[in-house]
Amino acid sequence: MSANSLEQLKAAGTVVVTDTGEFESIAKYTPQDATTNPSLILAAAKKAEYAQLIDKAVEYAKGKVSTPAEQVDLALDRLLVEFGTEILKIVPGRVSTEVDARLSFDKDATIKKALQIIDLYKEAGVDKERILIKIASTYEGIQAARELESKYGIHCNLTLLFSFAQAVACAEAEVTLISPFVGRIMDWYKAKTGETYTGETDPGVLSVKRIFNYYKKYGYKTIVMGASFRNVDEIKALAGVDFLTISPGLLEKLMTSTEPVPKVLDAAEAANVDEEKVSFVDDEPAFRFSLNEDAMATEKLSEGIRKFAADAVTLTKVLEEKVGA
Ligand SMILES: *[C@@H]1O[C@H](CO)[C@@H](O)[C@H](O)[C@H]1NC(C)=O
Repeated sequence: MSANSLEQLKAAGTVVVTDTGEFESIAKYTPQDATTNPSLILAAAKKAEYAQLIDKAVEYAKGKVSTPAEQVDLALDRLLVEFGTEILKIVPGRVSTEVDARLSFDKDATIKKALQIIDLYKEAGVDKERILIKIASTYEGIQAARELESKYGIHCNLTLLFSFAQAVACAEAEVTLISPFVGRIMDWYKAKTGETYTGETDPGVLSVKRIFNYYKKYGYKTIVMGASFRNVDEIKALAGVDFLTISPGLLEKLMTSTEPVPKVLDAAEAANVDEEKVSFVDDEPAFRFSLNEDAMATEKLSEGIRKFAADAVTLTKVLEEKVGA
């Protein structure tokens, strides 16, 4: 019996992570790590068995702080931590927990929020080693991550990463992990050009390959985790990358297929890649200019922050009703 495509992908050296707030599908696909965020929680909370976690979070907040605004704020973080703690009972690795996207341009507020989340996990008996704090890859977000990693030993997952400049800055900030978005890059180019792409020509795939090779060539430790896939071909074209996060639907396709998944990316071969070293250390203007030169990344980063923020607002409204704010 030959190995299914998912087993082959893992055999190529790629760690597989899944994006779902549903505990059953996490248990079914046995990923190493998992993630949680307001939109996944909103989706999960439509089910009665998870809805009670919201009530628990509100009760907790009411017992700790007095004003309705403080209660909503604390309940939101507590809810993320409750979901994260449940997920950690199933996955062997880490869970990512998002800092409110409305703080994406505020370094100090991001650090403060991350420290609060880590404290809540600690109170729930979860060590910081099992947490990744998820932060948008803005200039401020990357600087916040640098400080969280170096000063507090808190691991960060830098998300909404669409450009090479963002990837370079994250590596220089020595963040634990980046999650460049493949499918969303492809969407942008497809909408702009009307073209369709194969796994090999897909601009999202090419972007992740470039980042992977650059990191390995120059010895950066930051883990590259491809995220947001539209089809199995994009995934197969990145076999060998450090991590991939895959939705339950695409995981199912990989599991039920025996098509070959040969290793494409290889750290040992990255040394031969023609890529000059660049640096944005202490150079905010150069970072901003470089990001701005990339229209796709500029638009996708802004749009992503707006969407994450809207989800946080929706969840906040649910909590406000419960708190009676
Ligand atoms: C990091 O964040 C991304 C983007 O939101 C998410 O898809 C991924 O699962 C997270 N990675 C880990 C290892 O938790």
